[in-house]
Amino acid sequence: MCGIVGYIGKRNASEVLIDGLRKLEYRGYDSAGIAVFEEEGIKVVKAKGRLDDLEEKMNLVGKPKGSCGIGHTRWATHGEPSDVNSHPHGNSRITLVHNGIIENYLELKERLAAKNYLFESQTDTEVVAKLLDYYYDGNPFETVRKVIENVKGSYAFGIMFADFPNQIFAVRKDSPMIVGLGEGENFIASDVPAILKYTKDYYLIDEDEIVVLEEGGTKIYNLDHELIEKQRHTATWDIEAAEKGGYPHFMLKEIFEQPDALRKTVQPRIKDGLPDLQVDSFTDDLIRKIGKIHIVACGTASYAGMIGKCAIEKLARIPAEVCIASEFRYGDPILKENDLVIVISQSGETADTLAALRLAKKKGIHTMAIVNVVGSSIAREADSIIYTWAGPEIAVASTKAYTVQMSVMYLIALKMALALGTLSEEEVKGYCGTILSLPEKQQQILDQSDTCKYFASRFQNAEHLFYIGRGIDYALSMEGSLKLKEISYIHSEAYAAGELKHGTISLITDNVPVIAVATQENIYEKTISNIKEVTTRGAKVLLVVNDRFEVNEDIANYVLRVPTTDDILIPLLAVIPLQLFAYYTAVLRGCDVDKPRNLAKSVTVE
Ligand code: F6R
Repeated sequence: MCGIVGYIGKRNASEVLIDGLRKLEYRGYDSAGIAVFEEEGIKVVKAKGRLDDLEEKMNLVGKPKGSCGIGHTRWATHGEPSDVNSHPHGNSRITLVHNGIIENYLELKERLAAKNYLFESQTDTEVVAKLLDYYYDGNPFETVRKVIENVKGSYAFGIMFADFPNQIFAVRKDSPMIVGLGEGENFIASDVPAILKYTKDYYLIDEDEIVVLEEGGTKIYNLDHELIEKQRHTATWDIEAAEKGGYPHFMLKEIFEQPDALRKTVQPRIKDGLPDLQVDSFTDDLIRKIGKIHIVACGTASYAGMIGKCAIEKLARIPAEVCIASEFRYGDPILKENDLVIVISQSGETADTLAALRLAKKKGIHTMAIVNVVGSSIAREADSIIYTWAGPEIAVASTKAYTVQMSVMYLIALKMALALGTLSEEEVKGYCGTILSLPEKQQQILDQSDTCKYFASRFQNAEHLFYIGRGIDYALSMEGSLKLKEISYIHSEAYAAGELKHGTISLITDNVPVIAVATQENIYEKTISNIKEVTTRGAKVLLVVNDRFEVNEDIANYVLRVPTTDDILIPLLAVIPLQLFAYYTAVLRGCDVDKPRNLAKSVTVE
């Protein structure tokens, strides 16, 4: 989604803004722009395309000179990507950048048109810029307050008033925004990487707070114009964590960071061999009362949830279901008093997941969140929070966040099993010990990444591809398939292996590629039968298989072996070859791996 950076200090604002926006490129965008206070007034430069296109334009029209400004990368929602729809919007008095969606923009537009305001873009943001202009009477604070009283939807706004060249105003609701605190310089940004080069210290902005950013300090007010004391946060990772560190892509770097991320997430949560989630409210008493578990998330996070469901049902025997957040929030879900809602989100800002969490809370259901970004909206609003310690995930395609989300789900399942007595203490200790040994096995797979590259080269020209698997392998197939399609643009579908013959098998003809995942002993033979069904019809099969199993030579064209472990835990290993396969396929096809078309990292709109 869109990225915002604002700067005030002594440096060249244009450079700081472009630099900060580059750090937010991972969020996804299709145009960019900046506005800087110059001596003669606010100068705006904006362009469709990448930041390089914006820089090219700046070279033509002149780089804005000044030390205070706001910048934006836009991911189009209202109106196509174009110069005119790009942010900043406004006029010589007021300039605005916006992340989010204004739901009542048409109604506001009509009201403003009736007052003779003209509009040149198709955006909701321009309507807010005109609304600011309409209310502006020389008092920026009051103007911002009136505007947020009138707009409905989600927003993070960065605003400059020409009459106040030494200030930037900011306000947010349901879209992230932080204030970076430097020495004699201050920042606003959508995310921490944008400010890390200059400072690690920041404030999190809450709703109904208005930020006034100045060179010498930052003031944050409530809507009654009373100063608020904010807690200072310090980023625990530095700029290197948000850089490629010698890898050609963030995605590859993040795939290779998985052993470390897994260690950091599970080691502190296993004490004396048993799971210790350090969540006070998650007591044995609460666990014993749980009727049903609803796991709610989007995309990859929901596939981690599917693995979690399998683990909870197998180990703790509590019924669990996985709901896609966008369906859950409007689906009138049946939630009973003793149910538990677990939401999973890397960013902690996904609009649908946040809305699902709020819905569950409103119905009085205990909510638990598994989140990677510290201090994000979901993390702050859930009743209990378990952070994954994956470090920043920059590539749009989620990899390391997925594995650590699964690892937390395993620990939750084990904690529940212990509380309910469905597993003995010794058995739980056994699983925990195995989880602690998995980073090393992940490393073994990574050390052989060339094998995945070779298999990718065999499939790189496919137009369509199927993933099949049963049970937990089906959940893994869903993730493998999503990873491939989002970055390589190969059309791919994941099927429960036994379901194919109920229709889809008609698409299997000569050389149609199929990736079969078979890691579970109890259903191995069944999956092998399904593989035979597709090979008989000419499919070209890559089998991803548990190393423990004997595989007949003629069963698949290619075989990729995954180190063995407890079957229920094997997704923590088996997903890695699927990620590498998708990555190398996309690279071989010349795709923009870290920034796939149309996608955004943090989906803060519905
Ligand atoms: C796919 C991917 C997305 C996210 C989804 C949820 O690789 O990254 O499917 O998993 O948008 O995002 P979070 O986890 O931030 O809520």
